[in-house]
Amino acid sequence: MTKPAVDGPAVVTGGAGAIGSVLVGALSERGRPVRVLDNLSSGRREQLPPSRPGGAIELTIADLAHPASWSERFRGASELWHLAAIADVRRGVAEPRLDLENGVLATFHVLEAARRWDVGRVVFSSSSVVYGRAAVQPTPEEYGPLLPESIYGAAKLAAEGLVSAYARCYGLRAWLFRFANVIDGRMNHGILHDLFEKLSRDPERLTVLGDGRQAKSYLRTEDCVGGMLLATERANAPVNLFNLGARDRTPVREIAEKVVAAHGGRARIEYSGGEIGWAGDVPQQLLAIDRIAALGWTPSTSSSGAIDRTIAEMLARRAGTGAPRGPSPDTGAPPPRSSRRPAGRGR
Ligand SMILES: NC(=O)c1ccc[n+]([C@@H]2O[C@H](COP(=O)([O-])OP(=O)(O)OC[C@H]3O[C@@H](n4cnc5c(N)ncnc54)[C@H](O)[C@@H]3O)[C@@H](O)[C@H]2O)c1
Repeated sequence: MTKPAVDGPAVVTGGAGAIGSVLVGALSERGRPVRVLDNLSSGRREQLPPSRPGGAIELTIADLAHPASWSERFRGASELWHLAAIADVRRGVAEPRLDLENGVLATFHVLEAARRWDVGRVVFSSSSVVYGRAAVQPTPEEYGPLLPESIYGAAKLAAEGLVSAYARCYGLRAWLFRFANVIDGRMNHGILHDLFEKLSRDPERLTVLGDGRQAKSYLRTEDCVGGMLLATERANAPVNLFNLGARDRTPVREIAEKVVAAHGGRARIEYSGGEIGWAGDVPQQLLAIDRIAALGWTPSTSSSGAIDRTIAEMLARRAGTGAPRGPSPDTGAPPPRSSRRPAGRGR
């Protein structure tokens, strides 16, 4: 099987989402034509950046949980960046089929499309949650056994397995990234989004899930995308696996206090109690990032610094000073009802 050159078009699934849209912008800036496949269940068309010279961005609205003519978009592409998923961990606990369809099945379908159209490189966005409650922290990539706590985590682990097996069976090259919590001011899910939403509904009282002692590592979206781009340029094993996170972690209590302070310090914080915020939650998470650091990557800020920067962005956006994003061309049909999700939930 001959592999196309890496300067050809890139297919980005979930490219209208929070992380995907930043990746799409970075690829376009590098002069790469980008074909975005997204069902817009949580992604937004307006989130896509404008095309850069040589880097035309085309959006096809497609539900990857069901094989269809969208696979034609893989024809002549040299890379698949598979980011589409239901990124809301709690939603999968309530509706397990969601993660099987949009996580596992969708991954199988895009891998089949990559195989059919001879797309030689596959990049996959996995998650720290595949480690479950890891006994070793910071947790290195070799850690095992991998026993996820959530259906979302189980789907990510299954999808990792599929990507790895396709690489071995069909000669693709694969990059698997296990992200910590990735944040920026545009994200419509995750703890900061949730806390901001709650405060806008009730400025006097902030209810926080769990006892406030859960602590995780937070990474800025631009750092996450920078890490993926660098690793795909510098690591070239048949299957490459990297953690991507900050070197420190931030307790939920600190985040809640910062959010309240950013809103004038008036709200009373009430914790729902318990070691975890919800069924499937992992209370402590810190990834070892030495492997990707050895390639020359380092996050631009600490976990707490990422929180501060994101709170400032969210305040600016809500005050109407956030930087708007340009529209992008699209083709296709409206998203299917089955995989839509409401905004305001998150990991
Ligand atoms: N944000 C984080 O903290 C984090 C952490 C670990 C892993 N990840 C993973 O990174 C990727 C991107 O996450 P994000 O935070 O940008 O979330 P997001 O919800 O903003 O982006 C996911 C995108 O996938 C699309 N999508 C979902 N199901 C689809 C389907 N069946 N067909 C086509 N498109 C579909 C959505 O419309 C959305 O645009 C996801 O795979 C997520 O699981 C995110």
